[in-house]
Amino acid sequence: LDKKSFQQDLLDWYDKEKRDLPWRRETDPYRIWVSEIMLQQTKVDTVIPYYNNFMEKFPTLQDLADADEDKVLKAWEGLGYYSRARNLHTAVKEVRDEYKGKVPDTEEDIKKLQGVGPYTAGAVLSIAYNVPAPAVDGNVMRVLSRLFTIYDDIGKAAAKNKFEQLIREIIAENRASDFNQAVMELGAVICTPTSPACLLCPVQKHCSAKEEGVQDLLPVKAKK
Ligand code: ADE
Repeated sequence: LDKKSFQQDLLDWYDKEKRDLPWRRETDPYRIWVSEIMLQQTKVDTVIPYYNNFMEKFPTLQDLADADEDKVLKAWEGLGYYSRARNLHTAVKEVRDEYKGKVPDTEEDIKKLQGVGPYTAGAVLSIAYNVPAPAVDGNVMRVLSRLFTIYDDIGKAAAKNKFEQLIREIIAENRASDFNQAVMELGAVICTPTSPACLLCPVQKHCSAKEEGVQDLLPVKAKK
């Protein structure tokens, strides 16, 4: 991969074509964090109204930390996976009490928070703080498996580690926020699970799967 050329093609496309999503107008790490928790098991179109309502009810980390749990769960009603809301509430109280209300900006500290695993840590660090950390979810693994024709089973922890390492190697150091979001965007609108739009893809000339015509065989996901 010609890294510089790949980064430029990806970021130029993202600058021009990115969707206008509510959390993309935000820089507050708390707001980015809420969006990433909501987006983990829920589609963008479903998340948008919940995100907007949640931000109206709990505009700052302090507001959420000080709120009663029943009010937080009420605002989450319909999104499902309620442990996400309970963990988030616990975690923002930790931030209020142990980090003076400032969301940690290092991988070491942010991962100590309740419900913050490698994906959420990388997403918040990169998107809010522009730290070059990987944020690898299923969409990102699909994109990378095709770009580099990686046939590892994406259900395996070893594969996830490999993809995280790969992102560390190719991430645009000075534009970590846009780079990670651009890969997510590519997975959402171009490099889709079925019938990927390779002919519209801004990085098709860098894609090993397209070159070999195997995009429909990737990623490999073994049956459970
Ligand atoms: N999926 C996960 N994080 C996302 C983000 N920041 N924007 C759009 N889709 C996402």
